[in-house]
Amino acid sequence: MHSVEPRPLIARRNGPLRGRARVPGDKSISIRALILGALTVGETQVAGMLEGEDVLSTAQTLRALGATLQQCGGRRWLLRGVGVGGFATPAAPLDFGNSGTGCRLMLGAVGGCPVTAQFDGDASLRTRPMRRVLDPLERIGARTLASADGRLPLTLAGARDPLPIVFEPPVASAQLKSAVLLAGLNAPGETVVIEREATRDHTEKMLTHFGAQLRVEAAGENGRRITLTGQPELAPAPIVVPADPSSAAFPLVAALLTPGSEVILEGVMLNPLRSGLLTTLEDMGAAIEAVQRRTEGGEEVADLLVRGSALRSVEVPASRAPSMIDEYPVLAVAAAFAEGTTAMRGLKELRVKESDRLAATAALLRANGVEVAIEGDDLLVQGRGRVPGGGLVTTHMDHRIAMAALVMGLASERPVKIDDGSFIATSFPGFVELMGSLGAALSG
Ligand code: S3P
Repeated sequence: MHSVEPRPLIARRNGPLRGRARVPGDKSISIRALILGALTVGETQVAGMLEGEDVLSTAQTLRALGATLQQCGGRRWLLRGVGVGGFATPAAPLDFGNSGTGCRLMLGAVGGCPVTAQFDGDASLRTRPMRRVLDPLERIGARTLASADGRLPLTLAGARDPLPIVFEPPVASAQLKSAVLLAGLNAPGETVVIEREATRDHTEKMLTHFGAQLRVEAAGENGRRITLTGQPELAPAPIVVPADPSSAAFPLVAALLTPGSEVILEGVMLNPLRSGLLTTLEDMGAAIEAVQRRTEGGEEVADLLVRGSALRSVEVPASRAPSMIDEYPVLAVAAAFAEGTTAMRGLKELRVKESDRLAATAALLRANGVEVAIEGDDLLVQGRGRVPGGGLVTTHMDHRIAMAALVMGLASERPVKIDDGSFIATSFPGFVELMGSLGAALSG
């Protein structure tokens, strides 16, 4: 699915950004819509689907398991599911490409069904830890038949008689939580996940939307206790996918960093468990106004009016990490243009993203003349109000490192080059064109 040719790109300053744009649909919601649609009896309509590579590779795996998923044009999809527990044994290995979310959620969905499947992915996904998901799935009754050190490629035999479990994830991870809930769907009785820190709640919301019985209660200071009653018959219900806040982050920060910019980003999802970047940028003095607040597909959305802003440094507490876990590379770019030292705490999980994002973010800044330090799990960026630029950034098959580096190049003194922008298509197809429509100078 992914093109084998690397796509070098270069970003340079080109005056203020202006105009309106709508970034593609949310990746987390798109992937969940496919999986839950595939477990539903009947036809589910989806509007605004993200047609990025991560979503398309997940769709392929669901087809291999028996679901009928049709792309109808205009980002509309029609999904015909097989029902909870209804997956068929696939004829070939399931290839998740670059998608950690697709792979981990599907480990859960398959782990609760009596089928055996091989899971594989690209070189980046093959480095990422799957043991965290396999451990609870084995308690549910799935068996890992082959896996080198808890990584892909692996073979999973789903549970014949899945057991409901009570599970406390050892790391704050929505993927892990979701995998257990998806496996628990096919277990009798109540599957319980107790999160110490709340993470994005799209799986819970969508399960409820499809008619599953699910209870969410507060647990501890920031946590949640989620109780799912297993073996529901999921009923089709239309889904509207809002614009992805993690994608909006790139044009948003680009507009903040280019003086005189005025950009409107339409219909961006404001789910509080995804809004840590907005909170942080507002603390830094960013001019961001949320206008036309409304509800789309069960989520609050707004048009974000963003103006070029002088930023100041901040302290970003570790407790905020789950609500902005994918936004640190671009926040670090914003911090480089701010005045003072920005400290981002508790970034351990960044080491196991599409790349070691803590190291890759530090390297992207250093390559462009920014002083940066990694202390334990913290990232410290010395902002000087300006960035020399002129660097070549290695993107390590990581879409967000690629986009963050390009955003830096739009505001730095000299252009910034990246070795490969092809992975941007995993989450943000049309990124170069959308940025160009706002006046950004990105070229090959
Ligand atoms: C996601 C959860 C996060 C995030 C990823 C999408 C999801 O990963 O980084 O891009 O859709 O559940 P973790 O759950 O591993 O933190």
